[in-house]
Amino acid sequence: MLTLGVETSCDESSAALVDGDRMLSNVIASQVDLHAAYGGVVPEIAARAHVEAIVPVLGEALSAAAGRPGLVAVTVGPGLVGSLVVGVSVAKGLAWSWDVPMVAVNHVEAHAFAPALEGRLPAFPFLALVVSGGHTLLAEVRGVSDMEVLGRTLDDALGEAYDKVAKLLGLGYPGGPVIDGLSADADPRAVLFPRAMIGSGDLNFSLSGLKTAVSRYVKQAGSGAAPVADIAASFQAAALDVVVRKTVAAALERGLRDVVLGGGVACNRKLRSWLAEECAAQGLRLVFPSPELCTDNAAMVAALGHRRFLEGFRSGLDQDVYPGLAFGS
Ligand code: KG4
Ligand code: ZN
Repeated sequence: MLTLGVETSCDESSAALVDGDRMLSNVIASQVDLHAAYGGVVPEIAARAHVEAIVPVLGEALSAAAGRPGLVAVTVGPGLVGSLVVGVSVAKGLAWSWDVPMVAVNHVEAHAFAPALEGRLPAFPFLALVVSGGHTLLAEVRGVSDMEVLGRTLDDALGEAYDKVAKLLGLGYPGGPVIDGLSADADPRAVLFPRAMIGSGDLNFSLSGLKTAVSRYVKQAGSGAAPVADIAASFQAAALDVVVRKTVAAALERGLRDVVLGGGVACNRKLRSWLAEECAAQGLRLVFPSPELCTDNAAMVAALGHRRFLEGFRSGLDQDVYPGLAFGS
């Protein structure tokens, strides 16, 4: 079935055409340049930029096929309310004018289904680690509508921690890719930052203290501080140490052999290689999508939306948006 996916939950306007799991188009207009000057996403600017971008993005995505989609899948949450409203309104307009069904999708759940577009979604049940600018959680995915959160961040998301630390080190926005690049040739043992909650006995995370520790170190060390690249690599080592350990612990605790990594931070090379190594050591299989399917995109929304449709889910044209939509709800 030809499915149109629409995604506008944060700062990417995206539309994708997917036939079954075959991706025909996945057009993404990023607003990152608009928000860079502010060091983070400004909700009103994001909503207005979606208003400008979404129709051209849809036009380009739809030009990938001659036929009309039989389904519209759209992100209804979580995300920024003004941004979500743009995508959901456009999706409704198309579903109504084409007279085809519409199905609502949870953005964070969609990240866990991105490997489907590369034919690599494991059989249920699997463990999902979703790490992005807004979310950090571990979940057992037993089905398209049967998911259980096993652990989550109690404060900052992992991508948010990268972005905040990069900002305080003067590395610009978004910080994740910069820290990733700088860390490749740097010393991750230069500064020993705290591994918060590593022995907490549960699967939750806390990342805001780490940002404070980096800030304190920079202030206290002054001119004697380690090179910025080494500080960045040391921050990354501390953050990922906890994430990798808890992910492996979750899979073993739950007896899950397959692990899916998703979300923007899943682009991170150190996270990919470290988690792959630890999973292999425990006999676990790790799957992560190509970088363009890790960051926000509409193809993953179509992939999950299509599956939800097959399970009987439909949304009415009075569908609302849910900025705080819970995973697995
Ligand atoms: O999934 P995403 O595109 O948007 C959200 O739903 O939040 O994730 C964006 C986040 C940003 O915080 C960005 O810094 C982070 O993903 N990110 C990375 C890398 N690429 C993107 N973090 C670490 N290493 C990367 N290579
Ligand atoms: Zn996302």
